[in-house]
Amino acid sequence: MSFDLVVKGGKIVLAEKTFVADIAIKGEKVVSVKKDIRADGAHMLDARGLLVFPGAIDAHVHLQLPFCGTVSCDDFENGTKAAACGGVTTVIDFAIAIQDKGGSLIETVEARKKEADGKVCVDYALHGGITKWNENVRRDMSDLVKDGVTSFKMFMIYRSQGWMADDGILFQGLEETAKHGGLILVHAESAIVLDLLIERYHTQEMMNKYGAYLHAMARPCYTEYEAVRRAATWAKETGGRLFIVHMSASESAEIVREAKRDGVKIWAETCPTYLLLTDDVYKSRETGHLYGICPQVKKKHDQLGLWEGLKKGYIDTIGTDTCTFDTKQKAMWQGDFTKIPFGIPGLETMVPTIFTAGVNKKKLSLNRFVEVVSTNPAKIFGLYPQKGTIKVGSDADICVFDPNKRVVIDFNNMQTRCDWSPFQGMKLKGYPAVTISRGKIVAKDGKFTGTVGHGRFVKRKPWGKI
Ligand code: URP
Ligand code: ZN
Ligand code: ZN
Repeated sequence: MSFDLVVKGGKIVLAEKTFVADIAIKGEKVVSVKKDIRADGAHMLDARGLLVFPGAIDAHVHLQLPFCGTVSCDDFENGTKAAACGGVTTVIDFAIAIQDKGGSLIETVEARKKEADGKVCVDYALHGGITKWNENVRRDMSDLVKDGVTSFKMFMIYRSQGWMADDGILFQGLEETAKHGGLILVHAESAIVLDLLIERYHTQEMMNKYGAYLHAMARPCYTEYEAVRRAATWAKETGGRLFIVHMSASESAEIVREAKRDGVKIWAETCPTYLLLTDDVYKSRETGHLYGICPQVKKKHDQLGLWEGLKKGYIDTIGTDTCTFDTKQKAMWQGDFTKIPFGIPGLETMVPTIFTAGVNKKKLSLNRFVEVVSTNPAKIFGLYPQKGTIKVGSDADICVFDPNKRVVIDFNNMQTRCDWSPFQGMKLKGYPAVTISRGKIVAKDGKFTGTVGHGRFVKRKPWGKI
């Protein structure tokens, strides 16, 4: 058989094993994985001395999201170029329908696809978004699951944006997933207590005194873990499937651990921001507000608890919650912590920062690293084994990674439109050398080399069909 591309002699790292072999690619697919494949005229990529793993899957991105009075500035084109440069070959974005305003789930998914198609540079999928419950929503949800949109986001906060799903909506959504193989994602924070605390702290005197640190003060860990516990209870009692996004507190991780032990169908994600930073970032008068995200970055013991959860297996995935706002957009806060556009960049730096802080520092094994950034998101979100592994028949989505390359993070050298980075100056050892998306080389040494529009919408499989 003739091939188009042969990745030669790399150390292939999968979730379950590590071995040295060649990978032959024909068109968009992996067609052979073994030693001594003859290139015979195919393009040959020398990967000797390098790691080769399935491209990362960032299951939590918000590209060009209208939010907090502005629109996140990494759009579908630039955001997916940044993904490619960072070794990420699939992103899952959100089609958040505000059903109160008449948007149906299906129409919102179609509208979001129109925004992405022709612009995306790596593959993408969509989570639906539910803010209301009625017969149309229930039917749309069931139809979407059959049509490749198998997961649905619910926000337990953001009342004023009209995005909040109350407990009744969450409960019924979970009941529905028990019937048809869908999955509910929740942003777990306790809206009522949170709003009460925010109001208490929202005085000019406090804002003068504490600045952006008030964002952390107003959101103690219990405003997250109470909501995680509540959502886990509804998942237990309904038998539905629940995925906790952007988990930030160590107590929340413990709740997920116990729920898993009790047989609840629950999974959890954490993000590089929570693993690498602490809430000290909010103390800077000049830059504290830039780190405004919900939930906010927590304390050292939370960071340690999250690493432990990843290592021991009760936190399942790392996603970035990329929602990029540049310094001009962040300046909209004007000293008021309730007006910060909430979100942070991260797609481009997820793989190398977690490799440096996780693998190099022995917090994660190489295989577990691949599992949490690629294989588990593929399995949980219905993309496996098309994605999330390197096997005959899988999409040729591959990150060739140089474990010895030293890079100092500088937003000026990156693809993101952001003019700051939460990890500016971080010293990395290990960086993506080449990213391959469905057989095409889309990035080399941190520079985009692919084609705009190469990415495609990927239909996902419901639970039970994986
Ligand atoms: O602050 C954040 N996380 N912004 C994006 C929206 C969300 O809550 O995920
Ligand atoms: Zn969220
Ligand atoms: Zn998010």
